[in-house]
Amino acid sequence: MECHVGVIAGDGIGPEIVAEARKVLNKIGEKYGHTFRYEDILMGGCSIDATGVPLTDEAIAAAKAADAVLMGSIGGNTTTSPWYKLAPELRPEAGLLKLRKSLNLFANLRPAYLYEELKEACPLRGDIIGDGFDMMIMRELTGGLYFGARETKEVDGVLTAVDTLTYNEKEIRRIAKRGFDIAMKRKKKVTSVDKANVLDSSRLWRKIVEEVAKDYPQVVLEHMLVDNCAMQLVKDPGQFDVILTENMFGDILSDEASMVTGSIGMLSSASLNDTKFGLYEPSGGSAPDIAGKGIANPIATILSAAMMLRYTFDLDKEADAVEQAVRQVLRGGYRTIDIMPQEEEKRLTVKQVGTREMGDLICANI
Ligand code: IPM
Ligand code: MG
Repeated sequence: MECHVGVIAGDGIGPEIVAEARKVLNKIGEKYGHTFRYEDILMGGCSIDATGVPLTDEAIAAAKAADAVLMGSIGGNTTTSPWYKLAPELRPEAGLLKLRKSLNLFANLRPAYLYEELKEACPLRGDIIGDGFDMMIMRELTGGLYFGARETKEVDGVLTAVDTLTYNEKEIRRIAKRGFDIAMKRKKKVTSVDKANVLDSSRLWRKIVEEVAKDYPQVVLEHMLVDNCAMQLVKDPGQFDVILTENMFGDILSDEASMVTGSIGMLSSASLNDTKFGLYEPSGGSAPDIAGKGIANPIATILSAAMMLRYTFDLDKEADAVEQAVRQVLRGGYRTIDIMPQEEEKRLTVKQVGTREMGDLICANI
């Protein structure tokens, strides 16, 4: 198979971690007879430096023309980087939001699970972890507060800011369907998260999700208020299978869920539209403090590439091979600094490696 992959290396640790994911894809190509053709696309701070804007029309066109886009991370230190002195619509993050909207990437899949091999990195007590957890956060990605009208103006001499939270039934229905489809391939449980005790948009969300649920009689649906969900994620994470939620709640809950696994450097994500196209990126940020040091964990990006093989190219066997290789390397005791055990004696049982070495080890296990 010939795969045309747009590559947004981005800022901070982005270029380093993306390089390892490309290495892994090339290894897959060699072993299974596929060709990966890469096309570099500028987005984020590096695009601002080169073009003055975080995402050009040419970059959008290049992303659209690719089968899928693999992304590292964008953005810098928000207090010290000059990018954050620019108007909000010219900052690195605006590029990402524009790309999501332009490509209609409404379905954001963020798996969060506990690696057996990394149990000691989980900040929760053993009795809470129990047999571990494995959830998929399905976040609506092109609506809600992120894309509603906003302005800051003086009202009767008082500076006032407005952000608008809008959802229509079509937007809710399409993400809900995706959530139920994914649940059908998992443990068949959907927890729809909203704030229906306060917000109209959440009441509509609940109504439409219930309508969609009628087409999926095998899936158990429950509703949960977002504040309670934030609590349940640290109280009993094992209760969740698919968490289905709107854009802003999903942003917050997915960070919480990934931190609970203790290994944000391990978690992948996919942003999908109605076609086979997808934007694949690690859940973690650009970590400017460790950029260029060769110590960043490339596993989340490598696992994002595995999601790309699975969702865009339907190469399940190849995706399994990547995931299996990651587990193998962890089982072999190799760790990047972020997933090193805290306790001194446990550190002696594993070996710390850098970004490149981790990529090489994963390739060697494919
Ligand atoms: C994320 C990030 C983005 C978001 C930022 C960078 C705009 O936090 O992908 O979760 O809020 O969606
Ligand atoms: Mg976020």
